[in-house]
Amino acid sequence: MRKKIVAGNWKMNKNHSDAIELITRIVDSSCNDSVQLVVIPPSIYISEIEEIASESDVTVGAQNSSQYESGAYTGELSAAMIKSIGAKYVLVGHSERREYFNEQNGVLAEKVNQLLKNDLTPIFCCGEVLEEREKENHFNLIEEQLNEGLFHLDETQILNCVIAYEPVWAIGTGVTASSGQAQEMHQFIRSLLINKYGENIANAISILYGGSCKPSNAKELFANPDVDGGLIGGASLNAVDFIAIANSF
Ligand code: PGA
Repeated sequence: MRKKIVAGNWKMNKNHSDAIELITRIVDSSCNDSVQLVVIPPSIYISEIEEIASESDVTVGAQNSSQYESGAYTGELSAAMIKSIGAKYVLVGHSERREYFNEQNGVLAEKVNQLLKNDLTPIFCCGEVLEEREKENHFNLIEEQLNEGLFHLDETQILNCVIAYEPVWAIGTGVTASSGQAQEMHQFIRSLLINKYGENIANAISILYGGSCKPSNAKELFANPDVDGGLIGGASLNAVDFIAIANSF
């Protein structure tokens, strides 16, 4: 069976001491052991957080990495660097990266390639803005994001990826996709995987939901057959809420 994953994207939040306190609380909490917990702090804290997390089953990820291998790219972090300090997962194409840093599908495909070369697991994010949903163009848009950013991979490579569906209108807004809307899109993504890679591979890939997921709605979202966990923003900044979400399976 595919992995259940609950990943906390801390975004650009928490100073050093708050970050250490948060990971310590998460590690000290008891969590449903059928769920892989992933914390995704600002990269500057990965090393230390990984050391604390290594006493537990919690794994660590990064929020971004460069499409380049190494060299004169001021301010960037390579996949190899991120790997060398203990991260296992890396977000690719979060909507905030797409919107504020102009990351497009072509660059995201290159980032995915760098991550796989370095044995890191990409969490490939896709999602539509409200306008696209209102125009009923959301299925086309998700298909395009996956075709251009992820579906160049071969069968072995895609098996090392996780997909996160995050409707942009639900991120940080308090508005969650309904359980039905989440399942509908996750099932659609699974059908794209089936068409491209076949049933066995499609059924082995975890598809996470993200967008105002919290303890009060996680159970209903996770009850869907094609929702394999969550990518959690705001609620992952609080250990009690984050663990409650993970325990909603
Ligand atoms: P949110 O963010 O849970 O705060 O809506 C989700 C995300 O951006 O990954």
